[in-house]
Amino acid sequence: MPAVGPDVAEAGVSRSLLFVPADSEKKLAKARGVNADALILDLEDSVAASAKKAARQIARGFIAEGFAAELWVRINPLDTSDALDDLREIMPAAPFGIVLPKPRGARDANQLAKLLEVLEQENNIPPGRTKILPVATERPSALFHMQDYADATPRLAGLTWGAEDLSAAVGATACRDTDGRWLAPYELARSLCLFAASAAGVPAVDTVYTDFKDLEGLAHYACNARRDGFEGMLAIHPEQVDVINEAFRPSAEEIARAERIVGLFAENPDAGALGMDGEMIDRPHWLQAKRILKTAARLN
Ligand code: COA
Ligand code: MG
Repeated sequence: MPAVGPDVAEAGVSRSLLFVPADSEKKLAKARGVNADALILDLEDSVAASAKKAARQIARGFIAEGFAAELWVRINPLDTSDALDDLREIMPAAPFGIVLPKPRGARDANQLAKLLEVLEQENNIPPGRTKILPVATERPSALFHMQDYADATPRLAGLTWGAEDLSAAVGATACRDTDGRWLAPYELARSLCLFAASAAGVPAVDTVYTDFKDLEGLAHYACNARRDGFEGMLAIHPEQVDVINEAFRPSAEEIARAERIVGLFAENPDAGALGMDGEMIDRPHWLQAKRILKTAARLN
Protein backbone atom coordinates (compact mmCIF):
# COMPACT_ATOMS: atom_id res chain seq x y z
CA MET A 1 0.00 0.00 0.00
CA PRO A 2 1.41 3.46 -0.83
CA ALA A 3 2.83 5.25 2.23
CA VAL A 4 1.30 8.58 3.31
CA GLY A 5 3.91 11.29 2.82
CA PRO A 6 4.37 14.49 4.81
CA ASP A 7 2.51 16.58 2.23
CA VAL A 8 -0.89 15.16 3.23
CA ALA A 9 -2.72 17.36 5.71
CA GLU A 10 -3.62 15.13 8.65
CA ALA A 11 -5.29 17.69 10.91
CA GLY A 12 -9.03 18.12 10.69
CA VAL A 13 -10.52 21.54 10.13
CA SER A 14 -13.84 23.26 10.26
CA ARG A 15 -15.74 23.59 6.99
CA SER A 16 -17.46 26.88 7.78
CA LEU A 17 -15.89 29.64 9.87
CA LEU A 18 -18.30 32.57 10.29
CA PHE A 19 -16.94 36.05 10.97
CA VAL A 20 -18.95 38.02 13.49
CA PRO A 21 -18.02 41.65 14.25
CA ALA A 22 -17.38 41.50 18.00
CA ASP A 23 -18.86 44.94 18.67
CA SER A 24 -22.30 43.72 17.55
CA GLU A 25 -24.21 42.04 20.36
CA LYS A 26 -27.08 41.56 17.91
CA LYS A 27 -24.96 39.59 15.43
CA LEU A 28 -23.31 37.62 18.22
CA ALA A 29 -26.73 36.61 19.54
CA LYS A 30 -27.77 35.60 16.03
CA ALA A 31 -24.55 33.59 15.57
CA ARG A 32 -25.54 31.34 18.49
CA GLY A 33 -28.29 29.89 16.33
CA VAL A 34 -26.18 29.37 13.20
CA ASN A 35 -24.83 25.95 12.23
CA ALA A 36 -21.24 27.13 11.64
CA ASP A 37 -18.40 24.77 12.61
CA ALA A 38 -16.57 27.79 13.99
CA LEU A 39 -17.14 31.45 14.77
CA ILE A 40 -14.45 34.09 14.34
CA LEU A 41 -15.17 37.01 16.65
CA ASP A 42 -13.62 39.91 14.80
CA LEU A 43 -11.71 42.69 16.55
CA GLU A 44 -9.95 43.88 13.39
CA ASP A 45 -11.29 45.34 10.12
CA SER A 46 -15.02 45.06 10.83
CA VAL A 47 -14.69 46.99 14.09
CA ALA A 48 -14.08 50.77 14.08
CA ALA A 49 -11.16 52.06 16.18
CA SER A 50 -13.60 53.76 18.53
CA ALA A 51 -15.42 50.46 19.18
CA LYS A 52 -12.38 48.18 19.73
CA LYS A 53 -12.35 48.45 23.51
CA ALA A 54 -16.02 47.58 23.86
CA ALA A 55 -15.66 44.79 21.26
CA ARG A 56 -12.87 43.12 23.29
CA GLN A 57 -15.04 43.08 26.39
CA ILE A 58 -18.06 41.75 24.52
CA ALA A 59 -15.93 39.03 22.89
CA ARG A 60 -14.54 37.99 26.27
CA GLY A 61 -18.04 37.72 27.74
CA PHE A 62 -19.29 35.74 24.75
CA ILE A 63 -16.44 33.22 24.93
CA ALA A 64 -16.77 32.87 28.70
CA GLU A 65 -20.43 31.90 28.26
CA GLY A 66 -19.30 28.87 26.23
CA PHE A 67 -20.39 27.65 22.81
CA ALA A 68 -20.73 24.34 20.99
CA ALA A 69 -18.53 25.26 18.00
CA GLU A 70 -14.89 26.40 17.95
CA LEU A 71 -14.51 30.03 19.02
CA TRP A 72 -11.74 31.99 17.34
CA VAL A 73 -10.85 35.66 17.80
CA ARG A 74 -9.33 37.71 14.99
CA ILE A 75 -7.01 40.11 16.76
CA ASN A 76 -5.41 43.18 15.20
CA PRO A 77 -2.09 42.82 13.35
CA LEU A 78 0.89 42.07 15.61
CA ASP A 79 2.68 45.29 14.67
CA THR A 80 -0.15 47.40 16.14
CA SER A 81 -0.52 48.21 19.83
CA ASP A 82 -4.11 46.95 19.61
CA ALA A 83 -2.89 43.35 19.27
CA LEU A 84 -1.57 43.08 22.84
CA ASP A 85 -4.64 44.80 24.24
CA ASP A 86 -6.79 42.29 22.33
CA LEU A 87 -4.85 39.31 23.69
CA ARG A 88 -4.77 40.56 27.29
CA GLU A 89 -8.52 41.07 27.30
CA ILE A 90 -9.63 37.87 25.62
CA MET A 91 -7.15 35.22 26.84
CA PRO A 92 -8.72 34.92 30.32
CA ALA A 93 -11.78 33.52 28.47
CA ALA A 94 -9.58 30.88 26.75
CA PRO A 95 -10.68 31.04 23.10
CA PHE A 96 -10.07 27.99 20.88
CA GLY A 97 -7.66 29.99 18.75
CA ILE A 98 -6.43 33.28 17.35
CA VAL A 99 -6.87 34.35 13.73
CA LEU A 100 -3.81 36.40 12.84
CA PRO A 101 -4.36 39.07 10.14
CA LYS A 102 -1.64 40.64 7.98
CA PRO A 103 1.27 38.53 9.25
CA ARG A 104 4.68 39.39 7.82
CA GLY A 105 5.20 35.63 7.58
CA ALA A 106 5.58 32.61 9.83
CA ARG A 107 7.76 34.71 12.15
CA ASP A 108 4.63 36.61 13.23
CA ALA A 109 2.85 33.33 13.95
CA ASN A 110 5.89 32.26 16.01
CA GLN A 111 5.93 35.58 17.85
CA LEU A 112 2.22 35.20 18.61
CA ALA A 113 2.94 31.68 19.90
CA LYS A 114 5.44 33.14 22.39
CA LEU A 115 2.91 35.69 23.63
CA LEU A 116 0.30 32.94 23.98
CA GLU A 117 2.73 30.84 26.00
CA VAL A 118 2.94 33.59 28.63
CA LEU A 119 -0.76 34.40 28.56
CA GLU A 120 -1.73 30.72 28.86
CA GLN A 121 0.46 30.42 31.93
CA GLU A 122 -1.02 33.56 33.48
CA ASN A 123 -4.55 32.28 32.87
CA ASN A 124 -4.09 28.62 33.85
CA ILE A 125 -4.69 27.40 30.30
CA PRO A 126 -2.85 24.18 29.34
CA PRO A 127 0.32 25.12 27.42
CA GLY A 128 -0.05 25.03 23.65
CA ARG A 129 -3.83 24.77 23.70
CA THR A 130 -4.54 28.03 21.86
CA LYS A 131 -4.35 27.50 18.09
CA ILE A 132 -3.27 30.00 15.41
CA LEU A 133 -4.83 30.54 11.96
CA PRO A 134 -2.89 33.14 9.92
CA VAL A 135 -4.51 35.08 7.07
CA ALA A 136 -1.27 34.45 5.27
CA THR A 137 -1.42 36.54 2.09
CA GLU A 138 -2.53 40.02 3.13
CA ARG A 139 0.91 41.62 2.72
CA PRO A 140 2.83 41.45 -0.58
CA SER A 141 6.11 40.64 1.18
CA ALA A 142 4.53 37.68 2.99
CA LEU A 143 3.97 35.89 -0.33
CA PHE A 144 7.73 35.39 -0.63
CA HIS A 145 7.98 33.49 2.68
CA MET A 146 5.05 31.12 2.50
CA GLN A 147 7.21 27.99 2.77
CA ASP A 148 8.33 29.06 6.28
CA TYR A 149 5.00 27.91 7.67
CA ALA A 150 6.27 24.33 7.27
CA ASP A 151 8.62 24.95 10.23
CA ALA A 152 6.31 27.19 12.23
CA THR A 153 4.85 26.79 15.69
CA PRO A 154 2.88 23.56 16.33
CA ARG A 155 -0.04 25.80 17.24
CA LEU A 156 -0.57 26.36 13.52
CA ALA A 157 -4.05 24.94 12.83
CA GLY A 158 -4.36 25.91 9.18
CA LEU A 159 -3.71 28.69 6.70
CA THR A 160 -6.21 31.00 5.13
CA TRP A 161 -5.82 33.92 2.76
CA GLY A 162 -7.31 37.27 1.85
CA ALA A 163 -7.38 39.36 -1.32
CA GLU A 164 -8.87 42.67 -0.23
CA ASP A 165 -5.97 43.93 1.86
CA LEU A 166 -3.45 42.54 -0.61
CA SER A 167 -5.05 44.41 -3.52
CA ALA A 168 -5.24 47.60 -1.46
CA ALA A 169 -1.54 47.22 -0.60
CA VAL A 170 -0.44 47.07 -4.24
CA GLY A 171 -2.74 49.90 -5.32
CA ALA A 172 -5.03 47.73 -7.46
CA THR A 173 -8.52 48.98 -8.25
CA ALA A 174 -10.05 45.48 -8.20
CA CYS A 175 -9.21 41.91 -7.23
CA ARG A 176 -12.05 40.24 -9.18
CA ASP A 177 -13.18 40.53 -12.78
CA THR A 178 -16.70 41.68 -13.66
CA ASP A 179 -17.96 38.06 -13.33
CA GLY A 180 -16.61 37.83 -9.78
CA ARG A 181 -13.63 35.60 -10.64
CA TRP A 182 -10.23 36.25 -9.05
CA LEU A 183 -7.83 38.21 -11.19
CA ALA A 184 -4.46 36.53 -11.83
CA PRO A 185 -2.51 38.12 -8.94
CA TYR A 186 -5.07 36.84 -6.40
CA GLU A 187 -5.32 33.38 -7.95
CA LEU A 188 -1.58 33.22 -7.26
CA ALA A 189 -2.09 34.20 -3.61
CA ARG A 190 -4.85 31.59 -3.26
CA SER A 191 -2.63 28.88 -4.77
CA LEU A 192 0.28 29.82 -2.52
CA CYS A 193 -1.99 29.49 0.51
CA LEU A 194 -3.08 26.04 -0.65
CA PHE A 195 0.45 24.77 -1.31
CA ALA A 196 1.97 26.34 1.81
CA ALA A 197 -0.74 24.75 3.96
CA SER A 198 -0.16 21.37 2.35
CA ALA A 199 3.61 21.70 2.80
CA ALA A 200 3.05 22.57 6.47
CA GLY A 201 0.69 19.61 6.92
CA VAL A 202 -2.26 21.79 7.95
CA PRO A 203 -5.63 22.43 6.27
CA ALA A 204 -6.12 25.28 3.81
CA VAL A 205 -9.19 27.45 4.33
CA ASP A 206 -10.52 29.46 1.40
CA THR A 207 -11.30 33.14 1.78
CA VAL A 208 -14.64 34.95 2.05
CA TYR A 209 -17.20 35.20 -0.75
CA THR A 210 -18.21 38.81 -0.28
CA ASP A 211 -21.37 38.89 -2.43
CA PHE A 212 -23.44 37.45 0.41
CA LYS A 213 -26.74 37.59 -1.46
CA ASP A 214 -25.45 35.35 -4.27
CA LEU A 215 -25.85 31.90 -2.66
CA GLU A 216 -25.74 30.09 -6.01
CA GLY A 217 -22.42 31.69 -6.86
CA LEU A 218 -21.18 30.79 -3.38
CA ALA A 219 -22.19 27.13 -3.81
CA HIS A 220 -20.26 27.00 -7.08
CA TYR A 221 -17.22 28.74 -5.57
CA ALA A 222 -17.19 26.50 -2.48
CA CYS A 223 -17.46 23.31 -4.59
CA ASN A 224 -14.46 24.46 -6.59
CA ALA A 225 -12.59 25.26 -3.38
CA ARG A 226 -13.08 21.69 -2.16
CA ARG A 227 -12.17 20.33 -5.59
CA ASP A 228 -8.91 22.30 -5.39
CA GLY A 229 -8.01 20.92 -1.95
CA PHE A 230 -9.32 23.50 0.49
CA GLU A 231 -10.93 21.91 3.55
CA GLY A 232 -13.13 24.80 4.59
CA MET A 233 -14.05 28.39 3.91
CA LEU A 234 -14.58 31.67 5.71
CA ALA A 235 -18.13 33.08 5.83
CA ILE A 236 -19.39 36.59 6.49
CA HIS A 237 -23.15 36.04 6.64
CA PRO A 238 -25.30 33.43 8.42
CA GLU A 239 -26.99 32.40 5.17
CA GLN A 240 -23.65 31.36 3.71
CA VAL A 241 -23.02 28.73 6.38
CA ASP A 242 -25.32 25.91 5.26
CA VAL A 243 -24.23 26.38 1.64
CA ILE A 244 -20.59 26.04 2.63
CA ASN A 245 -21.20 23.06 4.93
CA GLU A 246 -22.96 21.24 2.12
CA ALA A 247 -20.32 22.05 -0.49
CA PHE A 248 -17.52 20.63 1.68
CA ARG A 249 -19.33 17.34 2.25
CA PRO A 250 -18.15 14.58 -0.14
CA SER A 251 -21.00 13.26 -2.31
CA ALA A 252 -22.25 9.65 -2.10
CA GLU A 253 -20.70 8.96 -5.53
CA GLU A 254 -17.32 10.29 -4.43
CA ILE A 255 -17.42 8.18 -1.28
CA ALA A 256 -18.37 5.04 -3.23
CA ARG A 257 -15.54 5.60 -5.73
CA ALA A 258 -13.05 6.28 -2.92
CA GLU A 259 -14.09 3.05 -1.17
CA ARG A 260 -13.53 1.10 -4.37
CA ILE A 261 -10.05 2.60 -4.87
CA VAL A 262 -8.98 1.88 -1.30
CA GLY A 263 -10.48 -1.62 -1.55
CA LEU A 264 -8.66 -2.34 -4.79
CA PHE A 265 -5.28 -1.41 -3.29
CA ALA A 266 -6.07 -3.45 -0.18
CA GLU A 267 -6.70 -6.49 -2.40
CA ASN A 268 -3.47 -5.80 -4.32
CA PRO A 269 -1.00 -4.73 -1.61
CA ASP A 270 2.04 -5.05 -3.87
CA ALA A 271 0.61 -3.07 -6.79
CA GLY A 272 1.85 0.44 -7.62
CA ALA A 273 -0.60 1.17 -10.41
CA LEU A 274 -3.91 -0.55 -11.12
CA GLY A 275 -6.69 -0.30 -13.69
CA MET A 276 -10.23 0.71 -12.67
CA ASP A 277 -13.07 1.40 -15.14
CA GLY A 278 -10.49 1.67 -17.94
CA GLU A 279 -8.44 4.30 -16.08
CA MET A 280 -5.08 4.08 -14.39
CA ILE A 281 -5.07 4.64 -10.63
CA ASP A 282 -1.92 4.97 -8.55
CA ARG A 283 -0.66 6.54 -5.34
CA PRO A 284 -2.14 10.06 -5.82
CA HIS A 285 -5.58 8.51 -6.42
CA TRP A 286 -5.19 6.36 -3.32
CA LEU A 287 -4.23 9.43 -1.27
CA GLN A 288 -7.22 11.39 -2.58
CA ALA A 289 -9.51 8.47 -1.83
CA LYS A 290 -8.19 8.16 1.74
CA ARG A 291 -8.72 11.85 2.23
CA ILE A 292 -12.32 11.73 0.99
CA LEU A 293 -13.11 8.82 3.32
CA LYS A 294 -11.49 10.60 6.24
CA THR A 295 -13.51 13.75 5.60
CA ALA A 296 -16.70 11.72 5.20
CA ALA A 297 -16.04 9.86 8.47
CA ARG A 298 -15.38 13.13 10.31
CA LEU A 299 -18.62 14.69 9.06
CA ASN A 300 -20.81 11.70 9.99
N1 COA B 1 -22.95 37.10 12.03
C1 COA B 1 -24.09 37.03 12.73
N2 COA B 1 -25.24 37.64 12.33
C2 COA B 1 -25.18 38.32 11.16
C3 COA B 1 -24.01 38.40 10.40
C4 COA B 1 -22.85 37.77 10.89
N3 COA B 1 -21.69 37.80 10.23
N4 COA B 1 -24.26 39.11 9.29
C5 COA B 1 -25.56 39.47 9.34
N5 COA B 1 -26.11 38.99 10.47
C6 COA B 1 -27.51 39.11 10.89
C7 COA B 1 -28.03 40.52 10.82
O1 COA B 1 -27.77 41.21 12.02
C8 COA B 1 -29.49 40.30 10.56
O2 COA B 1 -30.09 39.94 11.79
P1 COA B 1 -31.67 40.19 12.06
O3 COA B 1 -32.40 39.28 11.12
O4 COA B 1 -31.84 39.84 13.49
O5 COA B 1 -31.90 41.65 11.77
C9 COA B 1 -29.51 39.07 9.69
O6 COA B 1 -28.29 38.38 9.96
C10 COA B 1 -29.60 39.38 8.19
O7 COA B 1 -28.55 40.25 7.84
P2 COA B 1 -28.61 41.17 6.53
O8 COA B 1 -29.64 42.24 6.73
O9 COA B 1 -28.79 40.28 5.37
O10 COA B 1 -27.17 41.78 6.46
P3 COA B 1 -26.67 43.15 7.12
O11 COA B 1 -26.86 44.23 6.11
O12 COA B 1 -27.23 43.32 8.47
O13 COA B 1 -25.11 42.87 7.29
C11 COA B 1 -22.84 42.64 6.70
C12 COA B 1 -24.27 42.71 6.18
C13 COA B 1 -21.89 42.30 5.57
C14 COA B 1 -22.44 43.99 7.32
C15 COA B 1 -22.78 41.53 7.78
O14 COA B 1 -23.15 40.32 7.17
C16 COA B 1 -21.49 41.39 8.52
O15 COA B 1 -21.24 42.15 9.45
N6 COA B 1 -20.64 40.41 8.15
C17 COA B 1 -19.39 40.16 8.81
C18 COA B 1 -18.37 41.22 8.45
C19 COA B 1 -17.00 40.85 8.94
O16 COA B 1 -16.85 40.31 10.02
N7 COA B 1 -15.97 41.15 8.16
C20 COA B 1 -14.63 40.81 8.49
C21 COA B 1 -14.14 39.65 7.70
S1 COA B 1 -13.98 39.96 5.99
MG1 MG C 1 -8.90 42.89 6.16
